[in-house]
Amino acid sequence: MDEKAWDELKRSAMDARSKAYAPYSGFSVGAAIRTDSGQVFIGCNVENASYGATICAERAALAAAVAAGERHLMALAIASSADAPITPCGICRQCLAELGTRLPIRSYAGDAEHEYQLSALLPDPFGREQLD
Ligand code: THU
Repeated sequence: MDEKAWDELKRSAMDARSKAYAPYSGFSVGAAIRTDSGQVFIGCNVENASYGATICAERAALAAAVAAGERHLMALAIASSADAPITPCGICRQCLAELGTRLPIRSYAGDAEHEYQLSALLPDPFGREQLD
C-alpha cells in the first residue's frame, strides 16, 4: 500500500480514537482497516462496567468491515494514547486472522510508529481448516 493511503488510514484511526469510550482505563484506541475494495472502516474501544465485555478498537473496525460485506483486509492502522506504539491484543489477533494473516499493521503513538505483520504476531493460528 502506498504512503498516501497509509496517511489516510492513520488519520482515520486517529479520528476513531477521539471517539473511544474508555471511562475505566482512560486508555483510548482507534483503528482503521482498509479493505481490498479501497474502503476504510473504523472502530474505537468501547468499555463496559462489566470490564470483560469491553470491545477493542481493532475488533470494532473488523466488525464494521464484515458487516459491510467485506472479506479481504488490506491494511490496519492503530492509534493509541500509549507512550509507544501498541500491538493488537491476543483476541484481536485471532479475530483478524480469520480473514487471513497477511495483514500489515501500522501502530501510532504520539510521533512514534511501528509496522508489524499479523503473520508474525500470530504464527500458526487456529483456523477454519482445523475444524474439518
Ligand atoms: N485496547 C484496544 O482497544 N486495543 C488494543 O490493541 C489493546 C487494548 C483497549 C481495551 C481497553 O478498553 C483498553 O484498551 C485497555 O486495555
